[in-house]
Amino acid sequence: MSENSRSSIHGQWSSRWVFVLAATGSAVGLGNIWKFPYIVGENGGGAFVLVYLLCIAAIGLPVMIAEVMLGRRGRQSPINTMKVLSKEEGRSPLWQLLGWSGVVAGFLILSYYSVIAGWAINYVLEMASGSFSGTSAGQVKTVFDDLLADPLKLTLWHTLFIIATMVVVARGVRGGLEKAVMLLMPALFVLLIILLIYAMNSGAFMQGLAFLFTPDFSALTGKGVLIAMGHAFFTLSLGMGAIMVYGSYMRSEDSIARTSIMIVIADTVVALIAGMAIFPIVFANGLEPGAGPGLVFQTLPLAFGQMTGGLFFGTLFFILLLFAAWSSSISLIEPAVTWLVENRNMTRRMASIVCGIATWVLGMGTVLSFNLWAEVKLFDMTFFELLDFLTANIMLPLGGLFIALFVGWAMSRESKLHEMGTKHLLAFNGWNFLLKYVAPLAVLVVFLQSIGLLEKLIEKLS
Ligand code: PHE
Repeated sequence: MSENSRSSIHGQWSSRWVFVLAATGSAVGLGNIWKFPYIVGENGGGAFVLVYLLCIAAIGLPVMIAEVMLGRRGRQSPINTMKVLSKEEGRSPLWQLLGWSGVVAGFLILSYYSVIAGWAINYVLEMASGSFSGTSAGQVKTVFDDLLADPLKLTLWHTLFIIATMVVVARGVRGGLEKAVMLLMPALFVLLIILLIYAMNSGAFMQGLAFLFTPDFSALTGKGVLIAMGHAFFTLSLGMGAIMVYGSYMRSEDSIARTSIMIVIADTVVALIAGMAIFPIVFANGLEPGAGPGLVFQTLPLAFGQMTGGLFFGTLFFILLLFAAWSSSISLIEPAVTWLVENRNMTRRMASIVCGIATWVLGMGTVLSFNLWAEVKLFDMTFFELLDFLTANIMLPLGGLFIALFVGWAMSRESKLHEMGTKHLLAFNGWNFLLKYVAPLAVLVVFLQSIGLLEKLIEKLS
């Protein structure tokens, strides 16, 4: 089949903007607002942020362009896309493993992502019922601790969120999602700005900014570097086929590079604004920046509780956060669903039900890891921490590494030029260089240093 005649059986985005919105919807999610601030806090601030930004620019952006391109050229589920493209380029069918690892990673991530999104559901209700009006930091923390200690509540919200995700996936991502994202993402952005303005007046704005943007390298560990790189993949939805599958619905005439740049900028801006809003509140209230996964849930309610109109803004904020999580979760399971439809002859509905049940069951492990299983640890990590570490810090960077290697080395220059257009050769060559050398080496170096091997290697060589 020639690449021009290939089209996706799952449909196509109706315009370039819809692709940008859907991919931004996938990228912007809990990663930006929940995870980014707390890992910045746990890893000492500025130096971590700097490494993260470097990874976004030098690895994230080129890999995003590569992943979208693979999707659009293959026009199938990530597994079958890699099968078709490796054949077309005369390469080993083993490249399909890239698609498989993506499907597994997406499934693992969704299982805990849904539990955290469930926290947001709980906070919509707590906010709306006025629980946080004028409360103290201590009371806000108690609400959070009580939630985590309650497996039944967590299960209920987790179940609701999985159902909500699967309903959209069953109908096809192009249906309701397009319209929802178009309205809700800008609204979330506006609320973040409101929070930012509040933070500016909190009395600790400069302290928050200094924490975020003054690099103190003594605060950064080798593991911190790995987490920063892993998060660059996580926040951009890279390395597991989500962006590939969205790319497969992209129209052939749209520019991949330009749209990818927009998505990367939007995602980064949202994360940075979230950080700039949260840390001043942390310092103004004498809270602990390294509080962990509860950070956002222990700081923002405090701010909303003190602000005029806080009940309204706070409720709206958690609703929008929930929508941001929703549009991400859909893309996490889409690679698995498309594969089941293509290879197991299932209807979309059936495939969604199967995936939904499987993720729900696995998600129960995360639910319990916050209470009944809190002491059950492997490598000093709870079930949730282990899943998060394995997916974000190992599987996604590995997936990204192999995407870079495939596009950088295994794909012919002709195929790439055909897909990318020949108008901007200089930019093309720059991108190709980043993919061939910079991204793979950077991932390898970070992996090696995080297990302490890099230092030993340097010692041996010198
Ligand atoms: N990028 C999403 C977020 O930041 C999470 C995600 C990861 C979505 C991988 C899809 C694939 O919340």
